[in-house]
This record gives sequence, C-alpha cells and structure tokens, in this order.
Amino acid sequence: MTTWPVAELHVHIEGTLEAELLVQLARRNDVTLPTTDPTELRRRYAFTDLQSFLDIYYANLTVLRTAQDFYDLGLGYLERAAAGGVRRAEIFFDPQVHINNGVPLDAVFDGLGGALRDGSSSTGVSAELIMCFMRDLGPEAARETLLAALPFREHFIGVGLDSAEVGHPAGLFRDVYQMAAAEGLHRVAHAGEEGGPDYVWEALDILGVERIDHGIRALEDPHLMVRLRDQRIPLTVCPLSNVCLKAVGRLADHPLPAMLDEGLLATINSDDPAYFGGYVDDNIAAVQRELGLDDELIATIATNSFRASFAGPAQRSLWIDEVRSTLAATQGATARAGSERT
Ligand code: ADE
Ligand code: ZN
Repeated sequence: MTTWPVAELHVHIEGTLEAELLVQLARRNDVTLPTTDPTELRRRYAFTDLQSFLDIYYANLTVLRTAQDFYDLGLGYLERAAAGGVRRAEIFFDPQVHINNGVPLDAVFDGLGGALRDGSSSTGVSAELIMCFMRDLGPEAARETLLAALPFREHFIGVGLDSAEVGHPAGLFRDVYQMAAAEGLHRVAHAGEEGGPDYVWEALDILGVERIDHGIRALEDPHLMVRLRDQRIPLTVCPLSNVCLKAVGRLADHPLPAMLDEGLLATINSDDPAYFGGYVDDNIAAVQRELGLDDELIATIATNSFRASFAGPAQRSLWIDEVRSTLAATQGATARAGSERT
C-alpha cells in the first residue's frame, strides 16, 4: 500500500484527541468521564448527525486544561500525521471552547505553538494553525475572540468557521472576516456539510473565503459548481466524517468521484480522526477501496492538496514533484507485479 505525500487542510486538533489520551488527561486534571475504558468510550461514538457528534466532542474537551495538555495533543497528531504521509498540516483549533472551559488563551497558544515548533522539527511536517469561530456562538463572540487572539497573531495564519451549520449562515460573520482580512489572515469556512448550497454561496460572496471546508452539497447547484470550478476554489472533503455524521449514507455513495469528474479542486482530509475511524491515510485507503479511485486519481487529489495549501509556491512545487515520483514508483511496482504473474 502506497503512503501518499499529502497536505492535510481540514483537521481539528481537538478531533485528534484519541480515547487513550482523553483518559490520561482526565486523570491528570481530575476530570470525571462517563467511563475510563477507551474501548467503551469509542463504543459511544455512534452519531446520528453533526450535533450528536458535537455534543460528545465538546464534553470531552473539558479534559484539556494546561499548556502541557495542548502540547501533548498537538505533538501526538503531528507524529501520527507524519507516519501517514502528511507533509503539510493546516490545523484548526477552537479557542472559544477552551475559553468557555476557563482555560486562558495563552495556555492554548503556548501548548499548540510549542507542539508545532517541536513537532515540525522532529517529524519534518510543515504545520500551521487556523483559528475557528464557532458559528452557533454568534458573530459578536467571534469578534471578541479575534480581538483576544490578536496578541498571539504570529501563532496562526488564518481563520475558519465551524460547529453547528444549519441556522447559522456564514453571512452573519461578515464583519469579523473583514477584520481578519485586514490583519492579513487567510479565510476559510465550513459550508455545505449539512447546509445546502446557499451556505456555500454566502461563504464565498460575503466572507470571501479562499477554501470551502466540506462543500459536498455544492453538487446540488450547477451554477455554484461553475463558480467553484472556474475560480479553482478548493474543497476540503472528509469522506469518513461524512459517513459517520450521516451526511452520506455509505462511503460507496460518496460524491467525491462526481466532484473530481466535474473538475473541482477536491482534497481528502480527516476532520476529527479520533472519532471518525481514521487519519488522512485511512481516508485515502478507504476511498480507494470503496470508490475504486485509481492511483492516478489519488495522485490528482494529493496534488490538489498542495495546490490548495497556504504554503509558499516553491515548497508546494517540491511536494507536487514528490507526488509525481510516488505515482511513477507505484505504477512501476504494479507493472512489475503484473509481468511477474504472466
Ligand atoms: N468541529 C469539529 N468537527 C466539525 C465538523 N465536522 N463540522 C463542523 N464543526 C466541527
Ligand atoms: Zn471540520
């Protein structure tokens, strides 16, 4: 099985909190969990929709208290990501959850910043942070969060919008996205995960986002498809997440192949790997198996991921060269195996 070099552009660091670390941090910080058996915790990760996931996800985050906790979480992700082929990670975090849990913002930035500094040098993964606003907490809370985070400006490269989508359209966040743009921050937003195409239009037209996170429901609107294709707007698709949160019935029915057929700049990502059954390499393996995507299509997706990343152009083209040589090696190995059989 090939390990593809890839950029992961849609992963929530809080969603990488594996059950084992959750139990360890609960003990460290004297937090009571419903059970301390990781297998039993995972057994409860059976979701009916986005909200049913968010309820458990936010409850688990009460175990994160100190800079050391955030450091351990961040370093653990980078080590696992590196093993799965990730060369570049643009990682979401949700400061509002932690502030509301009584954690000082400097503990979040110290811990995650330290993990990215040390983890980048030990694993070779180039990593940056994108700060998300929780759309269900509203635009005023988002504005306060951005103002509180500006003293830590050097720690993050962009802003995003996450949490419960339906009923919380992107347009409400116009002013805070304008402030972020004035600070030179990149702008992305979750849209079209559970919400329809209108949510994607608003993210594009009102927030001016550079990427759409998820975007699977964009397929319902042919005009939107034209816009996404012609403007080369990347979509950070998360196949295992979509199945676990019932946005898609079965992986075999996932719209990813249709998105690629339509010429969209689609990428594959893990979203919340501790909850949805796998990291980016697991997502790639699953779509290869269930959707029959061949190596050339996976190479296209990996190339898309580097094109869609906020890394510099010279670094992006080195990674894209690496995808090309990985494809050549994979095809060479397949051809040799074929000729040995005949
Ligand atoms: N926060 C963490 N994962 C999320 C998802 N899939 N959608 C919206 N908000 C999230
Ligand atoms: Zn997400």
